[in-house]
Amino acid sequence: MIYDNGRNEYENFIVTEDKFDKRFLGKCEAIMALGNGYMGIRSSTEERYIGEVRDTFVAGTFNKFHESEVTELPNVADVIGLDIYIDGERLNLEQAKIKDYDRSLNLKTGELTRTVVYETTNGNELKIVFNRFVSLADKHIIGQKITILPNVKDVNISIKTGINGQVTNSGVQHFSEGEKRLYENKYLQLVETTTQSQINFVINTVHDFKINNKEIEPDSFIFMDRRKIGNSYDISVKKNEELCIEKISNIHTSRDKENEEYNLDELKKVSYEELKELSSKGYNGLLIRSISEWDKIWEKHDIKISSNDDFDQLTIRFAIYHLTIMTPAHDNRMNIGAKGLTGEGYKGHTFWDTEIFILPYFIYSDPYIARSLIEYRYNTLPGAHKKAEENGYTGAMFPWESAWLEDGEVTPVWGGADIVTGKSTKIWSGFIEQHISADVAFATWQYYQITNDEDFMDKYGYELFMDIAIFWSSRLEYNKETGEYNINDVIGPDEYKEHVNNNAFTNYMAYWSIKTAMGYYKKLKEQKPSVYSRLNKKLKLEEAYQSWCDKVGKIYLPKPNEDSIIPQDDEYLKKEIIDLTKYKNQENVGEIFKDYNLEQVNKIQVSKQADIMALFYLLENLFSKEVKVANYNYYEPKTLHDSSLSLSTHCVLANDLGDNDKAYNLFRRASRIDLGENMRTSDHGIHAASIGGIWQCVVNGFGGVRMLDGILRIEPNLPEDWTDISFPIYWHGDRLMVKITKVGLEIENVTRVNKQIVFMNKGKNYILEDKICILN
Ligand code: BGC
Repeated sequence: MIYDNGRNEYENFIVTEDKFDKRFLGKCEAIMALGNGYMGIRSSTEERYIGEVRDTFVAGTFNKFHESEVTELPNVADVIGLDIYIDGERLNLEQAKIKDYDRSLNLKTGELTRTVVYETTNGNELKIVFNRFVSLADKHIIGQKITILPNVKDVNISIKTGINGQVTNSGVQHFSEGEKRLYENKYLQLVETTTQSQINFVINTVHDFKINNKEIEPDSFIFMDRRKIGNSYDISVKKNEELCIEKISNIHTSRDKENEEYNLDELKKVSYEELKELSSKGYNGLLIRSISEWDKIWEKHDIKISSNDDFDQLTIRFAIYHLTIMTPAHDNRMNIGAKGLTGEGYKGHTFWDTEIFILPYFIYSDPYIARSLIEYRYNTLPGAHKKAEENGYTGAMFPWESAWLEDGEVTPVWGGADIVTGKSTKIWSGFIEQHISADVAFATWQYYQITNDEDFMDKYGYELFMDIAIFWSSRLEYNKETGEYNINDVIGPDEYKEHVNNNAFTNYMAYWSIKTAMGYYKKLKEQKPSVYSRLNKKLKLEEAYQSWCDKVGKIYLPKPNEDSIIPQDDEYLKKEIIDLTKYKNQENVGEIFKDYNLEQVNKIQVSKQADIMALFYLLENLFSKEVKVANYNYYEPKTLHDSSLSLSTHCVLANDLGDNDKAYNLFRRASRIDLGENMRTSDHGIHAASIGGIWQCVVNGFGGVRMLDGILRIEPNLPEDWTDISFPIYWHGDRLMVKITKVGLEIENVTRVNKQIVFMNKGKNYILEDKICILN
């Protein structure tokens, strides 16, 4: 991988692969994926290779293949793939004598470019340039351009191209075949319908050809096959002539918000007409439209980092790029998958990754999108109620893994191999990883405090809070011996500890959810009688409040012991301690499972990821610095960071606790999870939460931006290697530009909706009007 290919306006915006290596196809397919939140396409090459994973996803279009499986995002018919034959010889880089190769993703424009110069067996030399984008302006549009230049001899070129529905999700075919058709001898259309959710997909594509910029109409013939329609084109190209092929495609589905009322015939017509109209603008015309939307993203969100290592600047842009393409901002019935739209990993499901790791970026940078993502949780309340009921509770018990609105829990039950039993390992998260309900409450609160969006709270936020508190209250278990309420048999954030009692994170967050709901209950009763009475009718609030009052003070909250260590759960500190050096120094995550199965790991003081550290990060005012330091020093050495969610939380905490070098080191490790040199880590898709975590490291960590009990605090602590950074944040509807240098901090209120904004820095309150500078 090459990271410093960008020049001038593209400096630190370009990620490059400079060598074709068929062993590592997954890496660039995922990290260079294209998308726009409506859809995502892995950047597999046009020509096919064994080992490739060719995926196209449309957000929210879940399908359940069989009762025994969980719902997943289906892999839509492929338009990217095409075969190129040069004098009868299929382009295949495994065999070709490659003279030059370069594949780059331009994060600024969202365009992928691959350049190949190679020698054919008959002694010709060809330069082929492949360009591609998924439009940020026209969300259904995919543009491709292929330019072929024979350098030594004239050639006969054949292209086999079209729409290929013979793709699967690791072998699972989610579609039944629909109609295939050619319109006007030019426009190809394929219809497919998901087998269970009955979502219609209409995919259209059209090709245009030019030689030396002059349109040509090559000989062609149409072919159809099962789930496949295409055209074959034959073209003669002279030495030094340039053949340019443009392929413009679109995808529409009956799940698109605007298409809900349409019937299939209309969907076919509308999508075909859209393609007809937009493709007339040509690849470049459509690309310009998309780039102007990307320009707006960078103008609004770019973060400037002056570091001794330019990789840091590239990293934050890589994060902003992926945060943009992973997010279905257009539709509040959809949310972000743990791998975005870049791979089959985690089946497109949404986890706490959104609330705790990704939402902070949107809350501080694009609150409108943050609101839509929380509205999704509101819209999934029927599923959350269903899950509570099935488990004997009441209220909103959010699924650990979430998909379509009414689906409820969609965590698969069986996972990877157990090296001891030889069976599949049972995945317990869907049954007992319950902190997600508190995470949703936390995100709602964070959104509200930072945006002041009262309209959101009236319509959705207060109700979410009440419903979640009702769940927790029903979930508490009374312990007669201690007179306290416990939460038994759960998995906390640390998934290497299953069936534990009183996981500190879960108990504190449940307590916090109920306590905060109680505050809102009083507020509604006193200040918002109409919201109160609506919710009281719907949720029997009076009754609920009574139960909260009875229970909240008796919830068991694990306290620091004589060494200031908070037990992660009732048993953790009693478990065996082993030498973890081997796993701490591992090259790939999960090495411990080569030696132990999960049951054995359960019995060792070893953690997958931040657990108590995540608690310190979220409820940071509840714990003293001394307690935080003691716990960091106790738990971090036992944490393998086997989840990509772990490093960023540790980075922010290490910085808070004064170990700036350690924090920077953790940031560098976090930023390499996807973008780094390890060619295997992203095979199943990028790590969405870790990418959100990169933004958290920069803004919440080194930038020191926090919301503490409703107050803005900005207390930067830059790494030694950084001279300055600047970034925007939104606070109570105002856009603030924060600039941090080695000498101090400057904040400007760019929009001035609020005359004054109060913020804290090193224990002192400041008032921001236009602009304020604080020297160190
Ligand atoms: C982590 C979870 C996370 C999930 C999806 C798991 O490996 O342990 O915390 O939510 O991946 O990213």
